[in-house]
Amino acid sequence: MGTKAKIIGTGIYIPEKALTNADLETMVDTTDEWIQTRTGIKSRHIAADNQACSDLAVEASKNAIKDSGLETSDIDLILVATITPDMFFPATACLVQEKIGADCPAFDISAACSGFPYALTTAESFIKSGMYRNILVVGAEKLSSFIDWDDRSTCVLFGDGAGAAVVTAVDGNSESGILSSYIGSNGKYADLLKIPGGGSAVPPSHDVIDKKLHTLKMEGKEIFKLAVRQMSDSVAKVLDNAGLSLEDIDMLIPHQANLRIIDAVMDRVKLPREKVFINLYKYGNMSSASTVVALHEAVKEGKIKEGSNVVMVAFGAGLTWAATVMKW
Ligand code: UT7
Repeated sequence: MGTKAKIIGTGIYIPEKALTNADLETMVDTTDEWIQTRTGIKSRHIAADNQACSDLAVEASKNAIKDSGLETSDIDLILVATITPDMFFPATACLVQEKIGADCPAFDISAACSGFPYALTTAESFIKSGMYRNILVVGAEKLSSFIDWDDRSTCVLFGDGAGAAVVTAVDGNSESGILSSYIGSNGKYADLLKIPGGGSAVPPSHDVIDKKLHTLKMEGKEIFKLAVRQMSDSVAKVLDNAGLSLEDIDMLIPHQANLRIIDAVMDRVKLPREKVFINLYKYGNMSSASTVVALHEAVKEGKIKEGSNVVMVAFGAGLTWAATVMKW
C-alpha cells in the first residue's frame, strides 16, 4: 500500500567554541547552580563570527548525506527549518543547495523549536504524494546572533548548532519508516516568544537597536506550562494515530529546552526515564536543531536500533508543536 518515508541517514555539526555556565557567570548576574537546577544546562556552543546559519547547515547536511550512502546528486528537495536564517531572503535552503552542490528545489520552514518535526512531516507528505523520493531535511540555528547577552533570563538557555536527516521513499508495506505525524499551532500565544523588531511590523531602525527589539524575548513561565501540556498531548495523539500505546515506545526524543519540562512530560505520559534521550546539558536549546541533533546522537550511541519505535516531540514559538512516530 503506497509509500512510506524513512530516515536513512543523519548528521550533525556543533560549532567548536563552548560557552560554559562559568563563562556566563562572568557576563551576567547568574550562577552555575541556578542554571543547572532550573534548566539542566551546563554548556552550549557558539558559532564563529564568520559562520552563518547556512554554514552550520552545510556541515550537518554533508554528514547526513554521507551517512545515508546516497550522493548529493540524488537529493530531490532541500528543506531547512530555521528561525535564524542567514538573511530574510533568499531562503537559507537555497544557500545550502548551492554550497553542497545539489540541483533541486529548496525552501525554508519557520516553526521555531518544532521546526525539524514540522519539516520532517512536510518531507513525508512530498514522499507519500510521489512527488519526490530523497529529501534532505535540516534543522539549523545561529541563535547567538539574536540573543540579548545582557538578559540573564534568556542568554543562559540557547546555543548554536545544526542537524540533518536524509529521508527517502520506501515501500508502504515496509515495517520501518514514519508511522504517523502530527503538527499543530496556535497564534493566540505568539507574544510569549518572539523577536519583536526588524520585520515588517517594526522595521529596522536605530530605535529597534537601542531597545534591543531585534533580540529574542520570552515569557518563560507561561511557555513552560504550555510546553508540558502540549508535548504530553502530542505524544498521546501521535501514538493513537499510529495505533500504538506507550508500552510500544523504545525511545522518546523530546525538544531539548529545559530538563524540568522533559521531566514533567515524562511524568504526565508515564514513561520511565531510561526511555528518554537527553543532551541539553551539552548544547542548551538549539531550537530547530535540537530534536534532530538528539536523534542523531541517540542512534550513534546505540540507544535507537533497527526496529526501535521512536517518538519525536517538540514545542516552540508560534506557538507550534509537532510529534512524529517512526520505526527505525
Ligand atoms: O524552546 C521552547 C521555548 N522555551 C522554553 O521552553 C523555555 C520555557 N521556560 C523555562 O525553561 C523556564 O521558565 C526558565 C528557565 C526560562 C525560567 O525558570 P523559572 O523557574 O520559570 O524561573 P523564573 O523565570 O520564575 O525566575 C525565578 C527567579 C527570578 O527571580 P525572583 O523574581 O524570584 O527574585 C528571576 O529573576 O530567577 C531569576 N532568574 C535568574 N537567576 C539567576 C532568571 N534567570 C536567572 C539566571 N540566573 N539566569
